Amino acid sequence: MKVSIIYHSETGNTEKVAKLIEESVCQIEGVKAESMAISEVDESFVNDSAIVFFGTPTYAGTYSWQMKKWLDTCRIKFAGKIGCVFATEKYIGGGADNAEMALISELLVKGMFAYSVGASEGQPYTHFGAVCIKDGTDEQKERVKIFAKRVTKKVKEMFGD
Ligand SMILES: Cc1cc2nc3c(=O)[nH]c(=O)nc-3n(C[C@H](O)[C@H](O)[C@H](O)COP(=O)(O)O)c2cc1C
Repeated sequence: MKVSIIYHSETGNTEKVAKLIEESVCQIEGVKAESMAISEVDESFVNDSAIVFFGTPTYAGTYSWQMKKWLDTCRIKFAGKIGCVFATEKYIGGGADNAEMALISELLVKGMFAYSVGASEGQPYTHFGAVCIKDGTDEQKERVKIFAKRVTKKVKEMFGD
């Protein structure tokens, strides 16, 4: 099963979280993952992916305009894929949750199945997606890994390799 991680990152925080997701899900047997900046998306890999994670920095309490522009102009067909989100912000309460929900709205409009595992597998809860302050404290990084692995294992269980 292939997993794509598409992100926008200006100063590297969101990119680091994307790489962490890539490393984590690659540890699951039968999973191939690729993280890619919006400027270098591997379209054929995305087309073959069952899951696409979208990562964004928080800008003015929502997701970045660069990610919005990319989503509005890209021609990739995301319909039918599982869509997950992650966001970085500078400080607690900076709006990452809202950025994630706004991004999830985009995914729904594209016909994706939005998924986060949420509170269904106990602590730690991953409400809308993973959130890190800048590139994440150790605890936040751990939650990113748990989130990414839980999503991927569940999708693998549901749809197979
Ligand atoms: C234009 C702009 C707006 C921002 N707005 C917010 C914000 O509303 N809340 C917040 O917590 N951080 C805000 N930040 C900080 C970034 O979300 C944060 O530093 C993020 O981790 C940067 O990600 P990157 O290193 O992947 O580019 C803003 C940064 C920029 C450049």
